[in-house]
Amino acid sequence: MNPTYSVPQTGIDERSERRLNAQHYGIKDFFGVNNCGAPWPTHPKPILEIGSGNGVWAREVCEQLPEAEVVGVDIVDGLRSKPPNFTFRLLNLVKDPWPFSPGSFDIVHCRYVTMHIPNCKQLLDNAIEATAPGGILMFEDQDQQLRAEGKPVSYPAVLAFTIFRGYCESCGVNPRPGALLAPMIIASGQFSETHETIVPAPMGPWTEDKKLHVIGEGMRTGIIEAARAFSPKVYEFGMTKSIVEGMVRELENPENKIYANEYLVWARKKPDHL
Ligand SMILES: C[S@@+](CC[C@H](N)C(=O)[O-])C[C@H]1O[C@@H](n2cnc3c(N)ncnc32)[C@H](O)[C@@H]1O
Repeated sequence: MNPTYSVPQTGIDERSERRLNAQHYGIKDFFGVNNCGAPWPTHPKPILEIGSGNGVWAREVCEQLPEAEVVGVDIVDGLRSKPPNFTFRLLNLVKDPWPFSPGSFDIVHCRYVTMHIPNCKQLLDNAIEATAPGGILMFEDQDQQLRAEGKPVSYPAVLAFTIFRGYCESCGVNPRPGALLAPMIIASGQFSETHETIVPAPMGPWTEDKKLHVIGEGMRTGIIEAARAFSPKVYEFGMTKSIVEGMVRELENPENKIYANEYLVWARKKPDHL
């Protein structure tokens, strides 16, 4: 099991469902679609979702593109029901050999996984290799850094994040991969275009830009639910229930004007002849 991602023994529970759905519909609401602005091929070859979770993205894509085969990989088989064009494959991204041949997928999607994986560069390299020439690679993640408009972040919100990031680093996980995604993809030299959207997701609907409200609510729900489900190991690192609940109160107070950046990246792989 990955040390920085807590999944109940029984699989994905109601709390995780709520968190994953809120995050998914927040991002979908921002773009209006599931592609983060990427122009998808009309008739794609197989699609890969790395870290498919409860399958909220994959299920919708299966419905949207019924002729496409969608493959989801994860350490947990989290889909309660599977569409006919969806295949789940158990894969531990940290321990198992990468099972896919180069260029097998026209679309590769990976959301909120790099922040839980030691050596997320290896994961990115595998995803890049699996993307077909001319295909689309999509990576989405956060930088787990709270910010506040025009002032310092309130205490203990900043404390909870500092302890959690310290814990992640002790496990060899970079807890702030968001800003690295586009640069790593560009540095591979294998893409003809790379697009990065950085969304300052507000904790609560305090900003005047209404377009940010749903994505902000998704991220706030994600942070609160994940923090309330921290594993006992995070507590050994100095976290307490009172720090978690203190952070929740700060995130729920619109006067704090807290936000966190969401990094949404897509890139098109060069065709074979380039
Ligand atoms: C925050 S969830 C995101 C789920 C999904 N991508 C989404 O956005 O709704 C992170 C996912 O990464 C998976 N994960 C964590 N560590 C993993 C590992 N070592 N190998 C495979 N999957 C892993 C978890 O099981 C979980 O489903």
